[in-house]
Amino acid sequence: VSAAPDALADLAETIAREAAALAVQRRAEGVEVADRKSSIADVVTAADREVEALIRRRISEARPDDAFFGEESGAATGTSGLTWVVDPIDGTVNYLYGSPVYAVSIGVVRGVPDPATWEPVAGVVIAPATGQVYRAVAGGAATLDGRPLAVAAPESLAETLVATGFGYTAERRWEQAAVLAGLITEVRDVRRAGAAALDCCAVAAGTVDAYYERGINPWDVAAGSIVAAAAGADVRTWEVGDTRSFLFAAPSIVEDLATLVRTLEDDVLGD
Ligand code: IPD
Repeated sequence: VSAAPDALADLAETIAREAAALAVQRRAEGVEVADRKSSIADVVTAADREVEALIRRRISEARPDDAFFGEESGAATGTSGLTWVVDPIDGTVNYLYGSPVYAVSIGVVRGVPDPATWEPVAGVVIAPATGQVYRAVAGGAATLDGRPLAVAAPESLAETLVATGFGYTAERRWEQAAVLAGLITEVRDVRRAGAAALDCCAVAAGTVDAYYERGINPWDVAAGSIVAAAAGADVRTWEVGDTRSFLFAAPSIVEDLATLVRTLEDDVLGD
């Protein structure tokens, strides 16, 4: 398979569709917690591992010189300069509970899998329970099931619906909740759906106006950030302490929202 962005997006979509079918099949058979990772909230199922193994195998068959970085199985180096950044099941807790809000997320970036420096190439996010396919190449259009997506254009923070999420350590949860306590009275409302890749795609589709989370992992946002940016979202990231914040937002309010969030972070984190 060639390294042209569209060819990489085609391959990502083919692999994500196969992975999504496997996730649906395993969900129908019944899912249990196989292990806990960083905290009691951070669970993994056998399906997460099996779906990642399938994705990893398919990528290395088609593009043996590319690097790989996955939530469950870690990193493999490559020589091509491209890295596949994969979350086999984003929204594992929703998946465990039988909620449809989970996703297979496959992003392709140039460089190391660090959101501060990587160069986005192509991204595909599939919601297996609904069959929705979000897809984009950097600099191209973002689509949902082939139809173009565009971010919303709220006129003020009072009209801004903000999606968010919570990382898994107790400290990160407390910090995020404290920032949100200040945010919730300034914006239209806050949503916590439980799958970061789909939060990014919701910004792209205009079903929320922004998504903000501190300490999100690269595999959660690699594909979704490409979809969001291609749909016109501004993607901002910055670091406070040793934790990176991510904000994906409609350009009409990004400046005001970034200023507010950074002020709240400074208050909470004492910087
Ligand atoms: C999690 C989800 C959640 C976000 C967490 C992620 P996982 O991913 O995307 O919405 O708030 O930070 O870790 O563990 O379900 O793949």
